[in-house]
Amino acid sequence: MKIAFAGKGGVGKTTLAAWTADLLARQGKSVWLVDADTALSLGQASGLAVGALPQPLILREDLIRERIGFGVIDLNPTVDDLPEKLCVELPCEGPGRKRLLVMGTVTGAGGGCACGPNALLKALLSHIVLDRDEWVLVDLEAGVEHLGRGTIQGVDALVVVSEPSHRGLETAASIGRMAADLGLENQVLALNRFAGGEIPALPGLPGTVMNLPFMPGLAAKQLADASVLGLPESEQVDRLVMQLLTALATGAKAQAA
Ligand SMILES: Nc1ncnc2c1ncn2[C@@H]1O[C@H](COP(=O)(O)OP(=O)(O)OP(=O)(O)O)[C@@H](O)[C@H]1O
Ligand SMILES: [Mg+2]
Repeated sequence: MKIAFAGKGGVGKTTLAAWTADLLARQGKSVWLVDADTALSLGQASGLAVGALPQPLILREDLIRERIGFGVIDLNPTVDDLPEKLCVELPCEGPGRKRLLVMGTVTGAGGGCACGPNALLKALLSHIVLDRDEWVLVDLEAGVEHLGRGTIQGVDALVVVSEPSHRGLETAASIGRMAADLGLENQVLALNRFAGGEIPALPGLPGTVMNLPFMPGLAAKQLADASVLGLPESEQVDRLVMQLLTALATGAKAQAA
Protein backbone atom coordinates (compact mmCIF):
# COMPACT_ATOMS: atom_id res chain seq x y z
CA MET A 1 0.00 0.00 0.00
CA LYS A 2 1.16 3.49 -0.76
CA ILE A 3 0.08 6.24 1.62
CA ALA A 4 0.73 9.97 1.32
CA PHE A 5 0.69 12.35 4.29
CA ALA A 6 -0.47 15.88 3.48
CA GLY A 7 -1.50 19.00 5.37
CA LYS A 8 -0.55 22.54 6.33
CA GLY A 9 2.90 23.35 7.72
CA GLY A 10 3.84 22.04 11.16
CA VAL A 11 0.71 19.95 11.72
CA GLY A 12 2.44 16.61 12.30
CA LYS A 13 2.77 15.00 8.83
CA THR A 14 6.37 13.92 9.32
CA THR A 15 5.74 12.71 12.87
CA LEU A 16 2.79 10.53 11.84
CA ALA A 17 4.65 9.16 8.79
CA ALA A 18 7.66 8.23 10.95
CA TRP A 19 5.42 6.54 13.55
CA THR A 20 3.57 4.57 10.86
CA ALA A 21 6.77 3.38 9.21
CA ASP A 22 8.21 2.34 12.55
CA LEU A 23 5.21 0.22 13.55
CA LEU A 24 5.05 -1.46 10.12
CA ALA A 25 8.77 -2.26 10.22
CA ARG A 26 8.48 -3.70 13.75
CA GLN A 27 5.69 -5.89 12.36
CA GLY A 28 8.15 -7.20 9.78
CA LYS A 29 7.11 -5.11 6.79
CA SER A 30 9.45 -3.58 4.26
CA VAL A 31 8.80 0.15 4.22
CA TRP A 32 10.02 2.85 1.84
CA LEU A 33 9.85 6.29 3.35
CA VAL A 34 9.76 8.96 0.70
CA ASP A 35 10.63 12.44 1.88
CA ALA A 36 9.08 14.81 -0.64
CA ASP A 37 9.29 17.76 1.75
CA THR A 38 11.62 20.75 1.59
CA ALA A 39 12.60 20.46 5.24
CA LEU A 40 14.12 16.98 4.71
CA SER A 41 13.22 15.94 8.22
CA LEU A 42 11.74 12.47 7.83
CA GLY A 43 15.14 10.83 8.29
CA GLN A 44 15.89 12.75 11.45
CA ALA A 45 12.38 12.14 12.78
CA SER A 46 13.15 8.42 12.29
CA GLY A 47 16.39 8.66 14.26
CA LEU A 48 18.92 9.21 11.46
CA ALA A 49 21.84 11.56 12.11
CA VAL A 50 21.85 14.71 9.93
CA GLY A 51 25.15 13.76 8.31
CA ALA A 52 23.75 10.38 7.21
CA LEU A 53 20.95 11.83 5.07
CA PRO A 54 21.15 10.93 1.37
CA GLN A 55 21.51 13.72 -1.18
CA PRO A 56 18.06 14.79 -2.42
CA LEU A 57 17.21 13.32 -5.81
CA ILE A 58 16.31 16.75 -7.10
CA LEU A 59 19.95 17.85 -6.68
CA ARG A 60 21.25 14.83 -8.60
CA GLU A 61 21.48 16.68 -11.89
CA ASP A 62 23.68 13.91 -13.27
CA LEU A 63 20.93 11.33 -12.78
CA ILE A 64 18.18 13.59 -14.01
CA ARG A 65 20.15 14.32 -17.22
CA GLU A 66 21.04 10.67 -17.66
CA ARG A 67 17.47 9.40 -17.27
CA ILE A 68 15.41 12.26 -18.65
CA GLY A 69 17.76 13.58 -21.33
CA PHE A 70 18.19 17.10 -22.69
CA GLY A 71 15.61 18.97 -24.72
CA VAL A 72 12.84 16.47 -25.34
CA ILE A 73 11.84 14.99 -22.01
CA ASP A 74 11.55 11.25 -21.66
CA LEU A 75 8.26 10.89 -19.77
CA ASN A 76 8.88 7.23 -19.09
CA PRO A 77 12.43 7.08 -17.76
CA THR A 78 14.05 3.90 -16.49
CA VAL A 79 13.99 4.02 -12.73
CA ASP A 80 13.99 0.37 -11.57
CA ASP A 81 17.47 0.60 -10.09
CA LEU A 82 17.09 4.00 -8.44
CA PRO A 83 15.31 3.21 -5.15
CA GLU A 84 18.04 0.77 -4.13
CA LYS A 85 20.80 3.04 -5.38
CA LEU A 86 19.56 6.22 -3.70
CA CYS A 87 18.12 5.00 -0.42
CA VAL A 88 19.57 5.04 3.05
CA GLU A 89 18.73 2.27 5.50
CA LEU A 90 17.13 3.61 8.69
CA PRO A 91 17.70 2.14 12.13
CA CYS A 92 14.98 -0.40 12.82
CA GLU A 93 14.09 -2.39 15.93
CA GLY A 94 12.46 -5.44 14.48
CA PRO A 95 12.36 -7.88 11.61
CA GLY A 96 11.27 -5.40 8.91
CA ARG A 97 13.14 -2.70 7.02
CA LYS A 98 12.87 1.04 6.70
CA ARG A 99 14.53 2.67 3.73
CA LEU A 100 14.57 6.40 3.13
CA LEU A 101 14.45 8.14 -0.23
CA VAL A 102 14.85 11.89 -0.23
CA MET A 103 13.26 13.65 -3.18
CA GLY A 104 13.66 17.28 -2.26
CA THR A 105 11.13 19.71 -3.61
CA VAL A 106 10.52 20.40 -7.26
CA THR A 107 9.65 24.04 -6.59
CA GLY A 108 13.17 24.52 -5.18
CA ALA A 109 14.83 23.27 -8.35
CA GLY A 110 16.45 26.58 -9.18
CA GLY A 111 13.89 28.67 -11.03
CA GLY A 112 14.37 26.95 -14.41
CA CYS A 113 12.02 24.40 -15.92
CA ALA A 114 11.36 21.72 -13.35
CA CYS A 115 9.81 19.32 -15.89
CA GLY A 116 12.81 16.96 -15.90
CA PRO A 117 13.10 16.44 -12.15
CA ASN A 118 9.33 16.30 -11.87
CA ALA A 119 9.09 13.57 -14.51
CA LEU A 120 11.78 11.54 -12.74
CA LEU A 121 10.09 12.00 -9.39
CA LYS A 122 6.70 10.91 -10.72
CA ALA A 123 8.20 7.89 -12.50
CA LEU A 124 10.05 6.87 -9.36
CA LEU A 125 6.96 7.14 -7.19
CA SER A 126 4.77 5.19 -9.59
CA HIS A 127 7.49 2.57 -10.09
CA ILE A 128 7.69 1.88 -6.36
CA VAL A 129 3.93 1.62 -6.22
CA LEU A 130 3.32 -0.53 -9.24
CA ASP A 131 6.30 -2.85 -9.28
CA ARG A 132 6.89 -3.65 -5.64
CA ASP A 133 4.75 -5.33 -3.05
CA GLU A 134 5.93 -3.10 -0.26
CA TRP A 135 4.73 -0.22 1.86
CA VAL A 136 5.46 3.26 0.64
CA LEU A 137 4.87 6.27 2.86
CA VAL A 138 5.23 9.66 1.23
CA ASP A 139 5.73 12.70 3.44
CA LEU A 140 4.54 15.62 1.33
CA GLU A 141 5.58 19.22 1.39
CA ALA A 142 3.16 21.46 3.32
CA GLY A 143 0.16 22.85 1.46
CA VAL A 144 -1.41 21.85 -1.83
CA GLU A 145 1.58 22.19 -4.23
CA HIS A 146 2.25 18.49 -4.71
CA LEU A 147 -1.40 17.78 -5.41
CA GLY A 148 -1.39 20.45 -8.10
CA ARG A 149 1.61 18.79 -9.76
CA GLY A 150 -0.05 15.40 -9.70
CA THR A 151 2.92 13.83 -7.92
CA ILE A 152 0.62 11.64 -5.87
CA GLN A 153 -1.11 9.97 -8.80
CA GLY A 154 -0.90 6.26 -8.07
CA VAL A 155 -1.10 6.67 -4.30
CA ASP A 156 -3.69 4.33 -2.71
CA ALA A 157 -4.54 6.39 0.34
CA LEU A 158 -4.19 9.87 1.75
CA VAL A 159 -3.80 10.94 5.35
CA VAL A 160 -4.72 14.59 5.73
CA VAL A 161 -3.22 15.89 8.96
CA SER A 162 -4.69 19.02 10.51
CA GLU A 163 -4.74 21.08 13.65
CA PRO A 164 -8.26 21.50 15.00
CA SER A 165 -8.60 25.13 13.83
CA HIS A 166 -10.92 26.56 11.21
CA ARG A 167 -8.06 27.78 9.00
CA GLY A 168 -6.23 24.51 9.27
CA LEU A 169 -9.35 22.55 8.46
CA GLU A 170 -10.01 24.74 5.41
CA THR A 171 -6.61 23.73 4.02
CA ALA A 172 -7.36 20.11 4.91
CA ALA A 173 -10.66 20.37 3.04
CA SER A 174 -8.92 21.84 -0.06
CA ILE A 175 -6.41 18.99 0.00
CA GLY A 176 -9.21 16.44 0.36
CA ARG A 177 -11.10 17.95 -2.56
CA MET A 178 -8.07 18.13 -4.85
CA ALA A 179 -7.11 14.55 -4.05
CA ALA A 180 -10.67 13.35 -4.70
CA ASP A 181 -10.57 15.15 -8.07
CA LEU A 182 -7.45 13.11 -8.84
CA GLY A 183 -9.42 9.95 -7.97
CA LEU A 184 -7.89 9.49 -4.53
CA GLU A 185 -10.99 8.83 -2.44
CA ASN A 186 -9.50 6.71 0.36
CA GLN A 187 -8.76 9.50 2.84
CA VAL A 188 -8.49 9.83 6.59
CA LEU A 189 -8.41 13.10 8.51
CA ALA A 190 -5.93 12.94 11.40
CA LEU A 191 -6.77 15.71 13.86
CA ASN A 192 -3.59 16.44 15.73
CA ARG A 193 -3.48 17.91 19.23
CA PHE A 194 -7.25 17.64 19.39
CA ALA A 195 -8.75 18.42 22.78
CA GLY A 196 -12.45 18.05 21.91
CA GLY A 197 -15.13 20.22 20.37
CA GLU A 198 -17.26 20.30 17.24
CA ILE A 199 -15.51 19.91 13.88
CA PRO A 200 -17.06 22.15 11.17
CA ALA A 201 -18.57 20.22 8.26
CA LEU A 202 -16.45 21.66 5.42
CA PRO A 203 -17.00 20.17 1.97
CA GLY A 204 -13.94 18.12 1.02
CA LEU A 205 -12.90 17.15 4.56
CA PRO A 206 -12.27 13.40 4.70
CA GLY A 207 -15.28 11.64 6.29
CA THR A 208 -13.16 9.26 8.39
CA VAL A 209 -11.61 11.08 11.33
CA MET A 210 -9.09 10.05 13.96
CA ASN A 211 -7.79 12.08 16.87
CA LEU A 212 -4.18 12.39 17.98
CA PRO A 213 -3.88 13.94 21.42
CA PHE A 214 -1.08 16.29 22.43
CA MET A 215 1.82 14.18 23.71
CA PRO A 216 3.88 15.84 26.46
CA GLY A 217 6.58 13.14 26.17
CA LEU A 218 7.09 13.98 22.48
CA ALA A 219 7.21 17.72 23.16
CA ALA A 220 9.80 17.17 25.90
CA LYS A 221 11.90 14.87 23.71
CA GLN A 222 11.90 17.33 20.80
CA LEU A 223 13.81 19.83 22.92
CA ALA A 224 16.83 17.56 22.86
CA ASP A 225 16.35 15.26 19.88
CA ALA A 226 14.74 15.31 16.42
CA SER A 227 13.62 11.68 16.64
CA VAL A 228 9.91 11.15 17.29
CA LEU A 229 10.45 7.48 18.24
CA GLY A 230 11.06 5.87 21.62
CA LEU A 231 8.53 8.00 23.51
CA PRO A 232 6.92 7.45 26.89
CA GLU A 233 3.67 7.43 24.85
CA SER A 234 4.90 4.71 22.44
CA GLU A 235 2.14 2.21 23.27
CA GLN A 236 -0.49 4.86 22.72
CA VAL A 237 1.21 5.86 19.45
CA ASP A 238 1.12 2.24 18.23
CA ARG A 239 -2.59 1.98 19.03
CA LEU A 240 -3.29 5.20 17.13
CA VAL A 241 -1.27 4.05 14.11
CA MET A 242 -3.14 0.71 14.12
CA GLN A 243 -6.38 2.68 14.13
CA LEU A 244 -5.16 4.70 11.16
CA LEU A 245 -4.05 1.62 9.20
CA THR A 246 -7.36 -0.12 9.92
CA ALA A 247 -9.30 2.92 8.69
CA LEU A 248 -7.22 3.03 5.49
CA ALA A 249 -7.64 -0.72 4.91
CA THR A 250 -11.42 -0.37 5.41
CA GLY A 251 -11.45 2.51 2.92
CA ALA A 252 -9.49 0.42 0.41
CA LYS A 253 -11.93 -2.50 0.76
CA ALA A 254 -14.94 -0.21 0.38
CA GLN A 255 -13.44 1.18 -2.82
CA ALA A 256 -12.68 -2.25 -4.21
CA ALA A 257 -16.28 -3.47 -3.54
N1 LIG B 1 0.59 15.14 19.09
C1 LIG B 1 1.71 15.85 19.30
N2 LIG B 1 2.08 16.16 20.57
C2 LIG B 1 3.21 16.88 20.81
N3 LIG B 1 4.02 17.34 19.84
C3 LIG B 1 3.70 17.06 18.56
C4 LIG B 1 2.53 16.30 18.22
N4 LIG B 1 2.47 16.16 16.88
C5 LIG B 1 3.55 16.80 16.39
N5 LIG B 1 4.29 17.35 17.37
C6 LIG B 1 5.52 18.14 17.22
O1 LIG B 1 5.21 19.26 16.41
C7 LIG B 1 6.30 19.58 15.55
C8 LIG B 1 5.82 19.59 14.11
O2 LIG B 1 5.53 18.27 13.70
P1 LIG B 1 5.99 17.72 12.27
O3 LIG B 1 7.38 18.11 11.97
O4 LIG B 1 5.63 16.27 12.24
O5 LIG B 1 4.98 18.53 11.34
P2 LIG B 1 4.98 18.64 9.75
O6 LIG B 1 3.55 18.78 9.36
O7 LIG B 1 5.75 17.53 9.15
O8 LIG B 1 5.74 20.02 9.56
P3 LIG B 1 6.37 20.64 8.20
O9 LIG B 1 5.19 21.22 7.46
O10 LIG B 1 7.31 21.68 8.71
O11 LIG B 1 7.03 19.53 7.47
C9 LIG B 1 7.38 18.54 15.81
O12 LIG B 1 8.32 19.05 16.73
C10 LIG B 1 6.59 17.40 16.44
O13 LIG B 1 7.39 16.60 17.29
MG1 LIG C 1 7.37 17.61 7.76
